[in-house]
Amino acid sequence: MRFDVAHFASAGFRNDPYPTYAAMRREAGPYWVPHVCGLRGSWMVTRYDDVAQVLRARQTSKMTNPNGVRRCPYEHCLSAQDPPVHGNIKAAMLEGLGAQRVAEQAPAVERIVDALLSPILARGAGDFVAEFTTPLPALLLSELLAIPEGWHARFLEWTPLVLAGHDMSNEKGRDHAAALAGVTQLARMLVAQRRAVPGDDLVGAMVRACDEDGAMSEDQLVGTLVLTMVVGYETTASMLASGLWLLATRGDAYRRVCLDPRRLPSAIEEVLRYESPVQRVTVRTLTAPMTVGGVRIEAGEHVTAIVGAANRDPDRFDDPDRFDIDRQPNHHLAFGVGIHACLAQSLARLQARIAFERLVARAPKLSVIDPKPCWRPTSGAVRGLARLAISVG
Ligand code: HEM
Repeated sequence: MRFDVAHFASAGFRNDPYPTYAAMRREAGPYWVPHVCGLRGSWMVTRYDDVAQVLRARQTSKMTNPNGVRRCPYEHCLSAQDPPVHGNIKAAMLEGLGAQRVAEQAPAVERIVDALLSPILARGAGDFVAEFTTPLPALLLSELLAIPEGWHARFLEWTPLVLAGHDMSNEKGRDHAAALAGVTQLARMLVAQRRAVPGDDLVGAMVRACDEDGAMSEDQLVGTLVLTMVVGYETTASMLASGLWLLATRGDAYRRVCLDPRRLPSAIEEVLRYESPVQRVTVRTLTAPMTVGGVRIEAGEHVTAIVGAANRDPDRFDDPDRFDIDRQPNHHLAFGVGIHACLAQSLARLQARIAFERLVARAPKLSVIDPKPCWRPTSGAVRGLARLAISVG
């Protein structure tokens, strides 16, 4: 069986990518796919051990165009850096996104969650995606980065277009370029704002690291802020929507978390494993030959890790296609692993915990009106629902 890029863009794959992943896992360790993400071709790895090996490997680079001209700050962002620059930028970001800083966000998350839930509860029904999972991470990020209210609507419109850019046709590619220019302008404005009024927040820590310590260039600073806006919002929204859909439609999962909310942390990990919001991480380029799943991959070749497939690998997880809120152990790879692993995973988990705690407390009778899920059209990098009609009565 061979799969190509058209298959990954098909409605069948979008609705249920898991049979494809199972076939890829069975057939080969690394699986060659021509023309992925604008690159000439890439090995795709789907088995848990192979994905973990690639993500942890030192002989990989995220700088897909190390000697070429980089066209915009986004191409200089944290995620496109190798050590030592990568470590410098990450250290500055962790000043604003470390465990203590994230814990301090709890009251803000509670306030936003309650404000978003109240109108849905008053009406007895609503679209959970439009009214809750989309605005929650966007509003929190806006507070975290001090994005002025006048920019909120454009921020919401632009960031999914930037994230989906590599998946899209030429026509949509133009939307991507315009959206990327807009988010870049917003990031420059946030930096200027923080230079005018210094602060101790995430942007303040990054501006200081750039201006005082020389830890990153202006393009790396602006590009990493663009990255944060782009990856921080849609991923979290996807986790929340897939999470509620799974809890409300898989057996008595929702009732069980209502009866005992202490089950929520383990239920959230199972949501992240079962419907991983980031299904496919950004491409790595090998800097030295490496043997993966019995296949030698040469230096200069590209490798793409499909964490959504690794998280359903039967060699790692018992009965992997079963949604089990009590699953233990559950060492999923939904946030990646290695030096590029998500540095804001505690912020994502905080939002999920508070959102579901408030939901089960305030809407114990919640149900999904149409249990057939409607997945957003992408060719597989980020997986999330387009809408989710719920009744809370
Ligand atoms: C459920 C929500 C989220 C998921 C599933 C997720 C997943 C991931 C994954 C898989 C990676 C690794 C990519 C790779 O190895 O190429 C990553 C990296 C990253 N994530 Fe997240 N993420 C989430 C939320 C967030 C949030 C809320 C933020 C920021 C506010 C964020 C910021 C980042 C950044 C900056 C990186 C790059 C790290 C690096 O290259 O060192 N993520 N994320």
